[in-house]
Order: sequence, then structure tokens, then C-alpha cells
Amino acid sequence: MSREALIEMARRTLAHIEAGTLPQADSIHRVPATHYTDPNRWQLEVERVYRRLPLALATTAELREPGSFRSLEVVGVPVLMVRGGDGVLRAFVNSCSHRGALVEKRPCGSARRFMCPYHGWSYDRNGALVGIFEAEHFGELDRASHGLVPLPTAERAGIVFVILDPDSTLDIDRFLMGYDSMLSHFELGGRHFLRRECFAGPNWKAAYDGYLDFYHLPVLHAQSFGDKFNNKAVYAAWGPHQRVGAVDSAMSMLAEIPEEQWRNHDLGQGVWTLFPGGSIAHFPAGPGVEITMMNQVFPGPSVGEGWTEIAYLASVEPNSEQQVGLESMAELLTRVVRTEDYPTVDGVFRALSSGAQREVLFGRNEEGSQRFHRWLDRLVAAETQSELEALFADIEIHHQA
Ligand code: FES
Repeated sequence: MSREALIEMARRTLAHIEAGTLPQADSIHRVPATHYTDPNRWQLEVERVYRRLPLALATTAELREPGSFRSLEVVGVPVLMVRGGDGVLRAFVNSCSHRGALVEKRPCGSARRFMCPYHGWSYDRNGALVGIFEAEHFGELDRASHGLVPLPTAERAGIVFVILDPDSTLDIDRFLMGYDSMLSHFELGGRHFLRRECFAGPNWKAAYDGYLDFYHLPVLHAQSFGDKFNNKAVYAAWGPHQRVGAVDSAMSMLAEIPEEQWRNHDLGQGVWTLFPGGSIAHFPAGPGVEITMMNQVFPGPSVGEGWTEIAYLASVEPNSEQQVGLESMAELLTRVVRTEDYPTVDGVFRALSSGAQREVLFGRNEEGSQRFHRWLDRLVAAETQSELEALFADIEIHHQA
């Protein structure tokens, strides 16, 4: 089914190339500047989007072995993910049931047990409370009900999804709407983990707008890698998740090849977004190796601040020559984000904050950005959990103009 979907997308793109057309949204979409700058709106996005939806917080490739863990704070919630001895990846609130200290301070590593640095209570890989320091003096306590608080977690297509609300009843598979079966073509779970890069940036939404269009590529990135792209894109959507496909010469070449010989690799080019702030893209990085760049943008501590994490994966375990190519490409990609995209976006946010610039426009060729903002509005308007779940209950799963 997912290969059929890839082929269908390629057929439609080729039809547009042949006709010299581009799919377009019905009209230009206008987003008020206050949707970016109003602290109350930003707080609603934190609470109703980031704290309620599954977030892609890790890759299978970096948490492959039992005991491997990753910890981070996401919109104020401390999270600890760890693979159990049974191979299951679990996530918890990284907070001790005694008096709340961070149980694990290191960002990643491997552990058989987690010992709280405050008073020495310890937890196993399943989050169970297995040790109370000088328990005989502490008093009677039901250990079974005082483990680390588990968070809803699912591992799909080589990606670890976590919901920050422990009481959430949202079905992660329903949220993904089959998108994971498309992502599974990239076999991310079998890729080689290179490293993570984490850095502060501008307002999360202004930053993420740049992940959803190719319109800016040949202009803003003219001095780095923009000459390799044109500015045209086609969009396909699975609920709020979108594939941003290129309309370029590589795509045109498929017309010369019988469909049964089309490679999934070629069919899957472009940027694959993961709502709310994620994206996945692949780039050639030298002989026989490709680099995967998996980005996640988060709101930072205030409306004008964001946080970005990039996980780099390699298609193969690299030899020394390939390692050089991978490092070079990772350095380029991070530099483009940090020195070209984000300073520009920072200027956008300052202009919007001034009050002089009242709105942001998304053209008919920026359908993906339009869809993103409409989904965001729907989610912010969904006050209750049942209203949230209704959004994913009965909608068109796949769409391409
Ligand atoms: Fe963890 Fe006291 S807060 S042992």
C-alpha cells in the first residue's frame, strides 16, 4: 500500500511536470502576526499541541541496546526514555517519586539502574522503584505505586514517539494516520546513529515555517546549497503530517524508467514532516552513503525563543572515507540552519513583534504551510481531550493536489 502511494504521488508529480503546472492552494492564506507573537497564543500551543500530541523525541538507532537511554526537557517536562531488557522502549517523567529530583541528568548513555542523586532512591529500566536508601527509617511505602511516571510511548518506523501527558488517551497510531508506513521505506531503525546537535533558536513556529517550503531554497541558500534546488514543491498529507516533494530533474528522469523499476529511494525524495515540529530529509554524503537529517523544533522558555534538535543518521556504518563525507555534510546542514535560516527567521519575529507588520502571507504555492497553520488553529481551538481526539477520528488521510 505505501509503495503504491509513493508511485501514485510520483505519477501526479510527473503529470504536473509534463503539463508545466504546479498544484496550488485555493487562495493566499493570511496568518495574523499575533499568532506568532502573542504570549497567550504561544502558551496555548505549548499546552494544547506540544503537551498533548505525540512528539518524535528519539530514534531507534540511538537507543538500540537494552539500557540505552536519552533524557531531555521538552516544554518544561523532563523526559527519560530507556530500552528495557525485554527490548521495549519506554518513556517516563524524569522525576523521582520521593521529592522530584531529576533521576538521570546525563543526556544519553547506558544504565542498568537509575539512582536519584538527591537521596539515593533507585529505579530499574522499567521505571520500577527498586531501592529506597535506608528504607527501614523512611517508613512504609508501596513501592509498586511509586515508580517513575510512565508516558504514552510508541516506536514506529525507527522513531520514538512520546506524549508528555501521562493521562493522555490519544491513540498514537491514529495520530500517525498510516504515515509511519510511508516513513518505514527509509528503514531508519536500521540506520547508523552519528550524533545529535541541539541549539537555541528563534520562535518555534516562525522557524518551522521554513521547513515546509522549497520556495526559499534557491534564494536564501544561494551561497550554500540552494543551486541544487528549484523552488517548486508538491505536497501530500496524512492528517497534519506532510511530504514536501521536489519537482526537479531527478523526478523528471523517472518518466524514462518503467514504473516497476522505480526505486523507493527515488520515490521518497523531499522533506517528510512530522507534526508539530519535525522533519526528515536525506542527502547524499559521498560514495555509497547517505545522511539522514531528522530535525525537531520545540518552543523554548518564552515566545521569542525556540529549541532545535537534529539527529544525524547514516545509511550504512561508515568507513573512514565515508565518515569524512558524513561529517562534512552534517556540518554544512547545521550551518545552513544556524547561519542562514534562523537569523532570517529571527528578523521575521522581531518585525512581527514590532506591531508594524500585521500579518504573514502564504501563497498558493505554499500549500504545506497553509495546511500546517490550519491544523495548528484547529488543535489550539480543541479545548478538551475528546475534542482533540475527534480531530483525528474521521478525516481524509491522504491528499495531494
Ligand atoms: Fe530522589 Fe530524594 S528526591 S531520592
